[in-house]
Amino acid sequence: MTDDVYQLTAAPLSKRLARGWHCLGPAARYADGQPHKVEAFNTQLVVFRTESGALAALNDFCPHMGAALSEGRVRGDSVACPFHDWRWGQDGRCTGIPYAKRIPPRARTRSWPLKVVDRVLYVWHDPERKPPPVEITLPGIEGFETDYADWSYSLHRIATNPRELVDNLVDVAHFFYVHGQGVNRLCAFFGNRFEGHVAWQILESEPHEGNYDKMQIGVAAEQVVGRRTETAYFGPAYLKSRLLIPFEDEMTENYIILAQQPINETEFDLHMLITTRKRPDLTDEQNNLRAAQMAEMLRMGTLQDVHIWKTKTRIDNPLLCDGDGPIYQLRRWYEQFFVNIADVTPQMTQREEIITDTRYAYEVWGRQSEERIAELEAAGISVPIY
Ligand code: FES
Ligand SMILES: [Fe+2]
Repeated sequence: MTDDVYQLTAAPLSKRLARGWHCLGPAARYADGQPHKVEAFNTQLVVFRTESGALAALNDFCPHMGAALSEGRVRGDSVACPFHDWRWGQDGRCTGIPYAKRIPPRARTRSWPLKVVDRVLYVWHDPERKPPPVEITLPGIEGFETDYADWSYSLHRIATNPRELVDNLVDVAHFFYVHGQGVNRLCAFFGNRFEGHVAWQILESEPHEGNYDKMQIGVAAEQVVGRRTETAYFGPAYLKSRLLIPFEDEMTENYIILAQQPINETEFDLHMLITTRKRPDLTDEQNNLRAAQMAEMLRMGTLQDVHIWKTKTRIDNPLLCDGDGPIYQLRRWYEQFFVNIADVTPQMTQREEIITDTRYAYEVWGRQSEERIAELEAAGISVPIY
């Protein structure tokens, strides 16, 4: 007898975590002259600002006898271990042992490369311990310092593997059911592009011909009909989304940075940073207030996936239908960050553009939406606007 029930498969999770830049939150958090403990990459780091103003990240556990340097103190340009006062510099070298005449030649710990983009700190993780390639950049926001409101920042610890989050980039159907709450149709146009270490998603909420190529990046806000988002992963763990959203009679231009930092293979910290382009006719205070309102709405929307992640299982062989986006292509692209550089295949990085035809689904979502609204109204529940 053949068993024709579809079998979900999932290989045991590897302990190997992605190669790439990972977010540690706003750089200002680490600038108070104290050493900070950061749980990440199946280990623990200490992050501190040296007296001369540089940010440093080292393995937290002291090579001498394993004490946590994050429990120590910053002394000059080094961190001093709380156990026997050995000092460790920004480059990981032991800079002094007050009670010893000589520093053992092997006294060196791991120093992690850091970079700050738009006031946010990122750390480079590579299981092969190679330095970050120069072409792997984290593009910031053009005009961030002058044209955008202050970041609205939040941190969320999420108990799942980051692949669940990354899958979202191509998961066209969940936008209606999860983010649109079965009421708001968000995807009249949906396209993805993979190339090198970058994976794009372009999404528009209204069907229209438009006088621009929808897969183009950087479409002017004035040209856009309805909502449009231009979103990309630059590497495995830094997602930058530009969201053009009509709100109270104006088109707002917003950015979300969604950047995860794995604690281990089953848990990650999700750093969410949101900002809105300032209106020149408003004061900075008014702009920050307006941005905070937008951020609250966008944050709520972005976190709607969390319940699904918490309650779903990991699946390597999703059973797809003709209305789905390119999940297998995305996962092949994502795979490049989990193999040695020498084993990255052309298939993982090749340019590929896929536009998912949403015309049929869009009609259906319209009918489902009407049914849902009727249900909500009958139950006296207000209809969610987003
Ligand atoms: S454990 Fe750090 S100085 Fe001894
Ligand atoms: Fe989502």
